[in-house]
Amino acid sequence: MNDASAGAARHTWIRERIAQVPRVRLALTPTPIEEAPNLSRALGGPRIFIKRDDLTGVAFGGNKLRNLEFRLARTMAEQPDTVVVGLDIQSNSARQTIGACNKLGLKTILVLEGTQPEIVQGNLLVDYLLGADVVFAPTREAQRAALDEHAARVRAAGGRPHILNDNPMFDVASALAYLETTVELLEQMERAGVQPNALYMSSSGKGQAGLVLGKRLTNAGHAVHGVTATNEFHVPSRTAAIANETLQVLGLDMRVTEDEILNDAGFVGAGYGIPSEASVEATRLFARTEGVILDPVYTGKAAAGMIAHIRERRYGKDDVLVFVHTGGTPAVFTWNTLWL
Ligand SMILES: Cc1ncc(COP(=O)(O)O)c(C=O)c1O
Repeated sequence: MNDASAGAARHTWIRERIAQVPRVRLALTPTPIEEAPNLSRALGGPRIFIKRDDLTGVAFGGNKLRNLEFRLARTMAEQPDTVVVGLDIQSNSARQTIGACNKLGLKTILVLEGTQPEIVQGNLLVDYLLGADVVFAPTREAQRAALDEHAARVRAAGGRPHILNDNPMFDVASALAYLETTVELLEQMERAGVQPNALYMSSSGKGQAGLVLGKRLTNAGHAVHGVTATNEFHVPSRTAAIANETLQVLGLDMRVTEDEILNDAGFVGAGYGIPSEASVEATRLFARTEGVILDPVYTGKAAAGMIAHIRERRYGKDDVLVFVHTGGTPAVFTWNTLWL
């Protein structure tokens, strides 16, 4: 077998393993991959491609639609009529979850931690537009209590609630999704006649676990760089743990260790959810060179990490980077004064 057919056989084998996990179809995939020559030129750096996972379709798209295919398959097995879910006020996950539930004919009750802001913008605005029953809870504990209360109320009225926060699939579903994305992306790059040297993605561990498995299981030579947008947990150990849990689900007898995980915590700035000077610069640069909209709290920080590595001259002109755009674009409207 030559290298190309061995690679194709490995891809088929990975897809077959993933196909054993129940799934509903939600995301528009394969998402496009496009070269960003103006961005490369502006940075005087390597070739850059953008994997457009901001274009997965439902409710402005983003990375969560891929994992919702597995999570909501698990949900649907219980035949609910209502999904009750607790998330944050500007959650990209909330927006995509409600959009996905709409497609599956499920009502949604969204319990957000915090108080209703005076100006409703960004993801929250879209949550309302999508028709979720939006309620607020001041603390995490109150949010948990509200999830149970609302589920009980639906049940008392004869409905069938499912609390999505209790669905155990979130981590593994994200890793499966980005394992599959690796195969998708490598096939697209192969058709374009190029091999990536490194992938960059905004990561708090879940999707990155899939990219790490993708590199391992395809035997690919590229590096996987996660850039975290939060200091709330230690991302490398979380990524390795999720990768190992996913290997178990796939029935594969191997292990990933924390020291193989590259995750840069140097671009969080003042904290989770707060734009940094570097993320604003990166967001402007992608927009002004390629017409690609990032957001200043996730993808902008990941792009800032990639840009910093390019400016440190870690890559030559012939090297090839792929920036995995995980979405989050509605956040630009909540930070409107940054762009004026
Ligand atoms: C736009 C965006 N990028 C990246 C992430 C991080 O993804 P993960 O939790 O899979 O690491 C999120 C998570 O909410 C997100 O909304």
